[in-house]
Amino acid sequence: MEGSLPWGNMRIILFAGKGGVGKTSIASATGLKAAGMGYKTLIMSLDIAHSLSDIFSLDKGLMDKNKGMPVKIEDRLWIQELDIAEEIQRNWGDVHKYIASLFHTAGLDEILAEELAILPGMEEVSSLLYINQYVKEDDFDVIILDCAPTGESLRFISIPATLEWYISKIFKIERRVVSYIRPVAKRFYDVPLPEDEYFKALESLFVRLEGVDNILTDPTITTVRLVTNPEKMVLKETQRSFLYFSLYKMCIDAIVMNRILPGKIEEAYFNDWKESQKRYLALADEYFSPVPIFPVVLFQNEPLGLESLKSFGENIYGERDPTEQVYTERPYEFSQKDGKFYIKIKLPFITKEEVELNRLPEEMVIRVGGFKRHILLPRYVSAYKDVTAKIDGTFLNIIFGGKSDGKEKSQR
Ligand SMILES: Nc1ncnc2c1ncn2[C@@H]1O[C@H](COP(=O)(O)OP(=O)(O)OP(=O)(O)O)[C@@H](O)[C@H]1O
Ligand SMILES: [Mg+2]
Repeated sequence: MEGSLPWGNMRIILFAGKGGVGKTSIASATGLKAAGMGYKTLIMSLDIAHSLSDIFSLDKGLMDKNKGMPVKIEDRLWIQELDIAEEIQRNWGDVHKYIASLFHTAGLDEILAEELAILPGMEEVSSLLYINQYVKEDDFDVIILDCAPTGESLRFISIPATLEWYISKIFKIERRVVSYIRPVAKRFYDVPLPEDEYFKALESLFVRLEGVDNILTDPTITTVRLVTNPEKMVLKETQRSFLYFSLYKMCIDAIVMNRILPGKIEEAYFNDWKESQKRYLALADEYFSPVPIFPVVLFQNEPLGLESLKSFGENIYGERDPTEQVYTERPYEFSQKDGKFYIKIKLPFITKEEVELNRLPEEMVIRVGGFKRHILLPRYVSAYKDVTAKIDGTFLNIIFGGKSDGKEKSQR
């Protein structure tokens, strides 16, 4: 049955959640089970503090030798832990060189400048390059992504949308401006301006990233599984992640509730823990429904190595195919009806007061708390004058009305 995915040609499952909740263990168990079922599977770590190889109890030497490329560890199972130094050589050459030269000019020691020129986001962009390549070349049936703790994984998923914005708004202008001012600036400033190689390198990165946005937001390919624990603070963060992934149009197909105390523990010492876990499980149901919750028990020991991870996988999925798309719903849609334009966004856990909308000529900026998202608008939407928001169950409807050709009356 090798390669015969019942759900389509390709499956990407992203495991995200707060620090220490069990993402890497669950991602590993999922990948191992997928490979066991006949799928050619890659587990890729998106966390700079890689721990995949530790969880599989692999020799560090084996990983080092492969310089951040996929390493085969079982039948049909590969793992990949990116090596940022290698990635800079492979993908970032002229971009890195320019940034390092800026730091060096600013007076930093050359070695330090080289080191600092590893910018936040480079690692994430590198993983996106691989994902895009693997999908386009059809290298794997299943790709499992083991994320860094929440904040950083949000940076990862924000990159495709930000890049689209950067390319369409900034990049072209920047390049033009630099080519105009370079001859003059060279005479007056000490700061080096980027040479055309810098732009060429960036452009080639953009080209190689093209389409990755669609891959990550297509629920028939990519889904997110939020790993959580039945504890107050963890659940709170999971609610937030749920909202943010939804804003990025990503489909969350399951919540994995890890570290549940098994019923067979009878010691009175754990009674309060068991009670509070029960309460949080019920609460989680209210928070995340209709997205299903997968309960996972606290093991007697750490699930490390193939055998232990296998039984961990059985505990999570039982007879289920771990690549199944458990739940598919687009959290975000554009539509048009009766002369109005709608953006419907799945945004659970918010009230109207929390949402701040800011209309710019070509885009809509949605702000919820400290979070911000740009949505590029189709050109014709600029003809609409009025914007209103309406909360409808778990959806935020942004309604554009009052077309300036006078056909539509104001909504307010
Ligand atoms: N259900 C479980 N039973 C027993 N031990 C567990 C369970 N889930 C995870 N662990 C252990 O908890 C620790 C943290 O797990 P893991 O590394 O998978 O979390 P993580 O979310 O990836 O952490 P980080 O945010 O640091 O990447 C590990 O030692 C792991 O073996
Ligand atoms: Mg981890």
